Amino acid sequence: MTTYDFDQPYERRGTDSEKWAAYGNDVLPLWVADMDFPAPPAILQALHKRVAHGIFGYGGVTAELSEAICNRLWEHYQWKVTPDQIVFQPGLVSALNVSCRAVCPPGTGVLVQTPVYPPFLSAPVNQGLQLNFAELTVKRSSHKLQYSIDFNAFEAAIQPNTRLFMLCNPHNPVGRCFSREELTNIADICTRHDLIICADEIHCDILLDQPRHLPIATLSPEIAKRCITLMAPSKTFNIAGLYCGFAIIQDPSLRKRYQQAANGIVPQVNLLGLTAALAAYTQCETWHKELLTYLNGNRDFLVDYIQEHLPALRTTIPEGTFLAWLDCSATGITGNPYEFFLRQAKVALNDGQRFGQGGKDFVRLNFGCSRATLTQALKQMKVALDLLN
Ligand SMILES: Cc1ncc(COP(=O)(O)O)c(C=O)c1O
Repeated sequence: MTTYDFDQPYERRGTDSEKWAAYGNDVLPLWVADMDFPAPPAILQALHKRVAHGIFGYGGVTAELSEAICNRLWEHYQWKVTPDQIVFQPGLVSALNVSCRAVCPPGTGVLVQTPVYPPFLSAPVNQGLQLNFAELTVKRSSHKLQYSIDFNAFEAAIQPNTRLFMLCNPHNPVGRCFSREELTNIADICTRHDLIICADEIHCDILLDQPRHLPIATLSPEIAKRCITLMAPSKTFNIAGLYCGFAIIQDPSLRKRYQQAANGIVPQVNLLGLTAALAAYTQCETWHKELLTYLNGNRDFLVDYIQEHLPALRTTIPEGTFLAWLDCSATGITGNPYEFFLRQAKVALNDGQRFGQGGKDFVRLNFGCSRATLTQALKQMKVALDLLN
């Protein structure tokens, strides 16, 4: 017996949704990474109560929220973080940009693993910095894709002027949850080259069949000193539009550099975001558990459907995130597959080319939607592909 019904359809057109407004009414949007589910009832109740108070002056982070985050980090990861080590941020894309600004003097570089969430590619450029690329290795077997890290290539990509490595874990778009061994290798290499690690772990609570997430900062106190860890309740509880996230920076001088880089540019978190975050982290455990069961089901359905009905496509089997990464190179699509699925299938996906090297001929599909929407989108993609042949 479940408490929450993730199958229930909700109309998102005409509700300020970026995802649903970007394309025509005849297009099913499975692109930008938010989900089509309402936030958990406990968050809605907390927001209703806050709105009913009626006064929306400048807000501030409460001790209760900071403590809730510290307790959660301890319970989930045995990670001892104190409230002063948490820097609240309205969004994690801005935190990626602030991290580049804080860590990298002009003329230095930032290492990223491609294909990767596009703001990883734009944040260094926004700060006038160089990009160093370490492409992930992909193994193709029938309809599946498996990504791993080539550690020689990873180390070889580091230049004498590289200062920062931006890690995405769980990884968007390839859906990997990196193992302790992989993270230890990464940490060792970053230590050897004296790199700061900005670890974007926004998807850390969306684990599919994975027992637990491992923040890279928890590997050792020495590693923690070189980490800026980014987390948020936004993806997990579908409150991305409320803009509340945070950076955990345990080294005082790194934290100071980060705060200085954000000073006067990054505003405080919206107070409704703070209200939602507290409810998310303290009252939504059952909802979260059931969400993961539903997303696991969507992931399995997607992989099975592709195997059975779209055999020319190859897909990742995401270990985390609600994002699948599809290789269209064997489909016979001429031109950009994103354009193809948009025009011929009326399904809006993300264009793989925007994710950097290793993204050509790929699209990203967001399965954080009802099973009915996912099924309909896949059916439309199948019809379009069938017509090709
Ligand atoms: C890895 C990653 N970081 C950051 C973000 C966006 O964060 P925010 O909305 O807090 O700026 C996303 C959204 O998809 C993401 O996948």
